[in-house]
Amino acid sequence: MRRLNVIGIGAGDPEYLTVQAVEALNRTDVFFFTDKGEDKSELLHLRSEICERYAGRGQYRIVEIPDPQRDLAEPMYGHAVGEWHEKRAVLWGKLLESELADRDVGAFLVWGDPAFYDSTLRIFDLVQARTTCEFELEVIPGISAIQALAARHKISLTQIGGSLIITTGRQLLNGWPEGATDVVVMLDAHCSFRELDDSLSIYWGAFLGTDDEILVSGTIADCGAQIEEVRSAARKRKGWIFDTYLLRQQER
Ligand SMILES: C[S@@+](CC[C@H](N)C(=O)[O-])C[C@H]1O[C@@H](n2cnc3c(N)ncnc32)[C@H](O)[C@@H]1O
Repeated sequence: MRRLNVIGIGAGDPEYLTVQAVEALNRTDVFFFTDKGEDKSELLHLRSEICERYAGRGQYRIVEIPDPQRDLAEPMYGHAVGEWHEKRAVLWGKLLESELADRDVGAFLVWGDPAFYDSTLRIFDLVQARTTCEFELEVIPGISAIQALAARHKISLTQIGGSLIITTGRQLLNGWPEGATDVVVMLDAHCSFRELDDSLSIYWGAFLGTDDEILVSGTIADCGAQIEEVRSAARKRKGWIFDTYLLRQQER
């Protein structure tokens, strides 16, 4: 039976790789690189660097998986995402069958941890449901941007006995989640925190774990405008941005 590892590679610093991830990289015969059509060449470069540094004693192949065409007129939510995943599942199934021999080990490298806002595992569920391709799957956890954010700000994400909500900028535009005290926000293209009560504390981080890392913290009233400015300048300079933040309501 062919084996497939989905390996979390951490969210920025190559040294976020765990010992388990390095061992899995070393056992890999074929790396499957997905091209999501994003212009984040630095991320692609980091992926190749990780393979060169840690993988397979040089005895591996890389197979690039092109992304199926998607309907750019449709926003990538709901139906459009579902259809796009179906197309990817069929393509991935075919490639796994043609590129991985019995007993070969394949690997997909996932930014951060595969458990957070990443479709790789969902697509593998579809590959198993929709195609004849058989494989044994293993998931190697990685250090997510969420953990990197907490470590770099030197904070715990949870207050004593409290809950943590992880959400997106888009969801946050619907308002502060009921009953929440601590909310981690990812995938926010619009500084959605600007719509909220400005007495909330914010711990913001961009390009965490990289040489370009930026950290800002304070109340939204004190540093919301600064974050917007710094974010927009960094995005302009690099052409893209990855940022994550914690919003905290102090317990009364
Ligand atoms: C598609 S999600 C992938 C999350 C990833 N699986 C993880 O565990 O971190 C991409 C979002 O993760 C966050 N992110 C990923 N890497 C980051 C980094 N180095 N610094 C700040 N935010 C990051 C940003 O919110 C970005 O929009």
